[in-house]
Amino acid sequence: MRKLSPLLYVCISIVVALAQPKPIEQRIDSLLKLMTIEEKIGQMNQYNDDWTATGPATVDNDKANQIRNGQVGSLLNCIGTERTRSWQKIAMQSRLKIPLLFGQDVVHGYKTTFPIPLAEACSWDLDAMQNAARIAATEASAGGIHWTFAPMVDIARDPRWGRVMEGAGEDPYLGSRIAYARVKGFQGNGLGEVNSVMACVKHFAAYGAAVGGRDYNSVDMSDRQLFEVYLPPFKAALDAGAGTFMNSFNDLNGVPATGNSFLQRDILKGKWGFKGFVVSDWGSIGEMINHGNVKNGYEAALSAVTAGSDMDMESRCYKNNLVQLVKDKKVSTALIDDAVRRILQKKFEMGLFDDPFRFCNAEREQKELNDPDHAKSAREIAAKSIVLLKNENHLLPLSKETKTIAFIGPLVKAYKQNKGFWDIELPGGDSSFIVSQWNGLKNKVGKKTILLYAKGCDIEGTNKEGFAEAVRTAQQADVVILSIGERRDMSGEAKSRSDISIPGVQEELLKELLATGKPVVVLINAGRPLVFPYTADHAPAILYTWWLGSEAGNAIADVLFGDYNPSGKLAMTFPRSVGQIPIYYSHFNTGRPATDDANHNYNSSYTDLSIYPKYEFGYGLSYTTFSYSNLQLTKKQMTANEQITVSLTVANTGKYPGEEIIQLYLRDKVGSIVRPVKELKDFKKVALAVNESTIVQFTIDKEKLSFFNQQLQWGAEAGEFDVMVGASSRNIKLQDTFSLVP
Ligand code: GLC
Repeated sequence: MRKLSPLLYVCISIVVALAQPKPIEQRIDSLLKLMTIEEKIGQMNQYNDDWTATGPATVDNDKANQIRNGQVGSLLNCIGTERTRSWQKIAMQSRLKIPLLFGQDVVHGYKTTFPIPLAEACSWDLDAMQNAARIAATEASAGGIHWTFAPMVDIARDPRWGRVMEGAGEDPYLGSRIAYARVKGFQGNGLGEVNSVMACVKHFAAYGAAVGGRDYNSVDMSDRQLFEVYLPPFKAALDAGAGTFMNSFNDLNGVPATGNSFLQRDILKGKWGFKGFVVSDWGSIGEMINHGNVKNGYEAALSAVTAGSDMDMESRCYKNNLVQLVKDKKVSTALIDDAVRRILQKKFEMGLFDDPFRFCNAEREQKELNDPDHAKSAREIAAKSIVLLKNENHLLPLSKETKTIAFIGPLVKAYKQNKGFWDIELPGGDSSFIVSQWNGLKNKVGKKTILLYAKGCDIEGTNKEGFAEAVRTAQQADVVILSIGERRDMSGEAKSRSDISIPGVQEELLKELLATGKPVVVLINAGRPLVFPYTADHAPAILYTWWLGSEAGNAIADVLFGDYNPSGKLAMTFPRSVGQIPIYYSHFNTGRPATDDANHNYNSSYTDLSIYPKYEFGYGLSYTTFSYSNLQLTKKQMTANEQITVSLTVANTGKYPGEEIIQLYLRDKVGSIVRPVKELKDFKKVALAVNESTIVQFTIDKEKLSFFNQQLQWGAEAGEFDVMVGASSRNIKLQDTFSLVP
């Protein structure tokens, strides 16, 4: 073959090079050079569309013009390929044709609705949670959504706070593992994939520690506790590649998170090297005025942009003040360019500049939103999220040959209630695909079983007129199932409750039903741990069914009849009384450790109640039983660069196949700062047939022994450690000790 002349070779190389797509950074540089300051600030401006308002909405009928003028970078709460396409078309009329980013709270499903995140967390099944997020992303992206405001990773130890339903509970280790899995699920094989949505880790930071469990309330804590308890899930999500963060409404140690440079610049973008962008929470920039941290919108915009809030959700402070701040030389164009670059980077990565309509595919929307495999996955993780709290005399599982079952309660025939808070109701409001608890039971039982129904009472209120009919119905049955709890909108955003008992007269209804002498299985539906002493002490069987999503009825029936042996374990402590809150398992020992006996002599017990919860973190029963034996450590001493392997045997010693979540806890017995009496450091979920056993292994390395000391240095200190393996944080089955030596 004739050799190419050097000149020809050079020409061809130039042509080939020019044909290559320019690196994103170069494309951003070129675009920034063309943008006016108004267009740059437009990218930092996000408005709500009309699907719903998830905050105090501003009426603004000029959005289309502002989009045409390049003054809007993103819309939220814009649902469906048709609607997103229409807005994107308007964006393409702008001078530089910069595509809009569509964001949505796809928190636990888009059309297919999964259990609320706190319920999913009780499955401890990371693959199942990642798969749920993957399906949510597949459906949402098919519906035109680019960006989900999830996962919410706020550690929460106060069930009065309504948003506990949205996170992964009280523990930094479990919360970190789950945060990582959910980000991987949402973002799939990367932001360039058309079935991926960009994750948004929220709410940065420590929002779950609001004083009094009151939403939006102040948070005050040591930097050490912030780093040890509240930040780890955010770091895990960042390590998973999360594209964006959302800051939080609360002030942290006196500085609103939105204007908190320590959080957003020093930690997130500095120490952690985050390259994505930060969106404010709804209106939180303007709300700094209410906080009393700034005087007006001008100062709010200055504070927020300086602190690293890149995009303004709905407050309009950036749109109304940043141009003037730049003119007044209070804000440099470099600061604006950094924010805009971060935002444009994500739009390029998502392929929106190459094809702004790539997510607007009605055919794909139709296909993905009706994929039967999605419902199957939802049913599976819903069953895994149910926690068996009590099962006296093996009342459960019920026999499918039961002649007559009375299904009673205000939630039995509900549809949308099962979706919990932060569900997405698609235009048209179709809820026929949701499997009610009643229909789930009907789907399950054979033709010979008679199902009876009575509502009994409402969720709230004092009306007991339905009791008599409920009692008559129960008297005709062989077994009674009673479904009670909160309304789904009694937990969620701005749903803090000072009284977290089961509302209304529902527990009094239980009392009447128990008086018939019939066996009663109680289902408790809620978005938070509730306090229910009567039910806990008198009902023979209790399933905590949370809000399980669109397959709730089928999942509950699967568990009731043993087609799925419940494996869920609580991801959050259930207090005996609201007076115990905040309550969590990984507490310090104190100088006068509480005791649970009657002797309250000068120790940190209550004089009127045990300090122990009703149900502890990690608690959950099974229809079978498991034995733990033969704990072995490969060594009793390790240096910082060595590891210890912990192994034990777990056997299914009962009559049903089942899954067990084996939990590894460690205690650093002496530290330069006090250390918790135990901390979850690993877990394994194993499935075992009857009489089957398996060897479970954990690895202990320096990382698992490390903590933030008083100087906020991360590291392990030599000394003795307890290693505890348990079926819950209180039900420790096996333990030993080892030492970290210098
Ligand atoms: C809400 C929530 C936040 C949500 C946002 C958009 O106020 O705090 O979690 O993502 O507004 O709906």
